[in-house]
Amino acid sequence: MANNKTGFTSSFGVVMAAAGSAVGLGNIWRFPYICGQYGGAACLFVYLLFVFLIGMVLLMTEFVIGRRSGFAAEKAFPALYPKRPSWKLVGLFGVFTSFLILAIYLVISGWTVGYFWDSLTGKLASIGDGAFDAHFVQFSTSVWKPVVFLAIFLALNLIVVLGGVQKGIEKVSKLLMPFLLVLVIVLCVRALTLPGASKGIEYLFNPDFTKLTWEGILAILGQALFSLSVGMGAMIVYGSYIPRNNNILKNAAWITICDVLIAVLAGVAIFPAVFAAGQSPAGGPSLVYEVLPIVFNSMGSIGIVFSVLFFLLLSLAALTSAISLLEALTAWLHDRGMKRSVAAVLISAIELGLAVVVAYAYKRDGFDGGILSGFTPGGRNLFDWVDKFTGSYLPPIGAFFTVLFLGWVMKKEDIYDELSNHGVLKISWFKVFYYFLVRFLAPAALLVALVAGIFNS
Ligand code: PHE
Repeated sequence: MANNKTGFTSSFGVVMAAAGSAVGLGNIWRFPYICGQYGGAACLFVYLLFVFLIGMVLLMTEFVIGRRSGFAAEKAFPALYPKRPSWKLVGLFGVFTSFLILAIYLVISGWTVGYFWDSLTGKLASIGDGAFDAHFVQFSTSVWKPVVFLAIFLALNLIVVLGGVQKGIEKVSKLLMPFLLVLVIVLCVRALTLPGASKGIEYLFNPDFTKLTWEGILAILGQALFSLSVGMGAMIVYGSYIPRNNNILKNAAWITICDVLIAVLAGVAIFPAVFAAGQSPAGGPSLVYEVLPIVFNSMGSIGIVFSVLFFLLLSLAALTSAISLLEALTAWLHDRGMKRSVAAVLISAIELGLAVVVAYAYKRDGFDGGILSGFTPGGRNLFDWVDKFTGSYLPPIGAFFTVLFLGWVMKKEDIYDELSNHGVLKISWFKVFYYFLVRFLAPAALLVALVAGIFNS
């Protein structure tokens, strides 16, 4: 099938852009926490299994669908299987998921940019240790602050996407991803050389199989999918930009390795520092916006530098992820005949409105929430609903139908043809490794996880 779109220029470009999408908030604040909570090395072991056997298989699957069809999610499925145009619903489901993820992502990224700014101006360092929770609540529930920062963040995204696939996304990712790696390594070195750091390493890596509960296994699978940005069609779009002569398996393997590496390094940067400062680990927003500032304060004046570096790291990691979501949505409208620039601006405007609503719905436990946090249909505010759906349910559902499509609907020869670059590459692993996983293991695992997840909640 012809693909006349502008795509990425090289394997390196593909890997950096897709790793940019994969490495995000999920790696830096969610992964280390999950790892600590569900048994350290035991969790890591299961995570690695899931990431390579299911996550990476999905990544390859989305790449195959994207590159072979040349389209974003909605048109990609029917293009490959015209007999049943209704498969486009899977694509549209992905579009919907991306829409929601981007909204909540913008909110959290906005907080992060705000904290970067407060670190830079020295404001964060001037807050007393006991007051960080109150400060975070004040910041996240204020009427204008979260909005200003998320708007700035969104504007940066828009600029990159308007720059185009090569001169915007690829260029920025090639620049930012290596920089990100350096930043996280600097933070690791600092954390590991603090007195008392070993406790954090123990917390993170000590294998404790008793903590590896059923619920934990599901959380780990969800994290593996979310972290690789699969299950919502974003990687189908990036797949449609992969040059024809690129090796999809190699690309996917490198992207997965980068993603795991940065997640593990983030844990090594965070927990030793947390324990060295005499704090206990927390999850989610509390860890990043309440515990870490105390940790930075405990380092003396140099703490400001590390605080700036950390929030810069988090902001940039979030940026390259949000870019991929905005691009996925832009490409979707572009496929439907809209001009790229118009599509990107339109999506950004809608996302801005949605993100403001989500931001105003946030409420930190035990404190007053934002102006919309009192609206709790079904017992949850909108922030928590979006969080729950994007984190737990939607990506596995999208992922399930995506593997079903490849494993049971597409012709085996076509998949082989795409993965082998029309027979140029020798792929003896195809039958055992890929086709088996995509046909049996991945759908079964996703189904079990989904059903168990729904019944357990
Ligand atoms: N992978 C990103 C993270 O770990 C999140 C993401 C999901 C980005 C889906 C794009 C698409 O933070």
